[in-house]
Amino acid sequence: TGAFTYDPGFTSTASCESQITYIDGDEGILLHRGYPIEQLAEHGDFLEACYLLLYGELPTKSQKADFDFRVTRHTMVHEQMSRFFSGFRRDAHPMAVMVGCVGALSAFYHDSTDISDPHQRMVASIRMIAKIPTLAAMAYKYHIGQPFVYPRNNLDFATNFLHMCFAVPCEEYVPNPVLARAMDRIFILHADHEQNASTSTVRLAGSSGANPFACIAAGIACLWGPAHGGANEAALTMLGEIGTVDRIPEYIARAKDKNDPFRLMGFGHRVYKNYDPRAKIMQQTTREVLAELGIKDDPLLDVAMELERIALTDEYFIEKKLYPNVDFYSGITLKALGFPTTMFTVLFAVARTVGWIAQWKEMIEDPHQKIGRPRQLYTGATPRDYVNVEDRK
Ligand code: CMC
Repeated sequence: TGAFTYDPGFTSTASCESQITYIDGDEGILLHRGYPIEQLAEHGDFLEACYLLLYGELPTKSQKADFDFRVTRHTMVHEQMSRFFSGFRRDAHPMAVMVGCVGALSAFYHDSTDISDPHQRMVASIRMIAKIPTLAAMAYKYHIGQPFVYPRNNLDFATNFLHMCFAVPCEEYVPNPVLARAMDRIFILHADHEQNASTSTVRLAGSSGANPFACIAAGIACLWGPAHGGANEAALTMLGEIGTVDRIPEYIARAKDKNDPFRLMGFGHRVYKNYDPRAKIMQQTTREVLAELGIKDDPLLDVAMELERIALTDEYFIEKKLYPNVDFYSGITLKALGFPTTMFTVLFAVARTVGWIAQWKEMIEDPHQKIGRPRQLYTGATPRDYVNVEDRK
């Protein structure tokens, strides 16, 4: 193969050095800047995790207050953005809308194009963390035909997000701290995950020096697929299709059948060959939300629990080290919070924005940074001469 190795799916190629996130897939460990995800999710909030990912350290009280203030101040999007929305069909998938609208932000913030200026890089990062939730809520409101709800800056990040999604002009919005905490947790759990497909896409797009908003739009496009961020939507759809516990064996058999392309959505991970630590926290959060909403017997939760129990004791899943991943439980929680499945991946994008932007910044600031340019193994035709169209057979 000459001077380079062939590594489809980059299963054994490190594309960069990074100090942001550490995963030990065999042990089921996930650390951000050295801190275990379990501790960040239990004791902190999403904006604290954002600060940590971006700056490398947990903020002091005053740093946190200042950061929260800066993010809050940037939550509005330009009024003209609403015209972009009206250009989409109402039945457009909200991820399609997000790819377009986040890319369009690059046309509003010309100063962010100067990526050589550290101040501009940080301003772009804050704008992204602040505005993408607003666009996500607008995508949801547009999707269901309701008026857009402006951000409210006296609410915390997660509460404001739920407010922008669920408030209606004809009724007073009453925040629910348990649901807001669950939303915040979902954001923390999805904030970063080192060099996954969408993050690698953001780095690759950014390696050419492209506008950061355009790079994040590329990440959103990549996240959309069912093998990546689309899995939470696919997992819930699958649980609904299975419907009742007695049908689980049929689906387990299908997942094991080599001739059937069906896969158990929400199971398996390229890196985790053990229980995904995020899935454990998510399972707990799911229970809290269902209890708060008084949902006692959610048939989907019954199916999920039984599916997990059977899969964890099944030889095929044990041998292939297939465990539930974070998306297995997040779908049930998001549904209980009131989101339709089409919004699930959008919520993942809201959370992952900080990971993408932190990784983008790290790449731009890396003195060894080069434009990403994989090689290939050419398997096409050998040299041959052009044949005039009249002479072609
Ligand atoms: N159900 C049944 N069999 C599976 C599954 C599954 N969910 N996942 C993997 N396998 C089998 C697969 O058929 C293959 O078998 P064999 O070796 O006999 O060909 C073996 O396990 C290895 O699978 P792979 O596709 O080579 O592994 P990968 O590392 O390329 O894929 C994955 C990882 C996440 C794409 C895959 O496990 C999958 O498709 N899972 C379902 C989708 C899903 O839940 N994705 C969310 C990932 S977590 C969120 C995120 O990071 O975006």
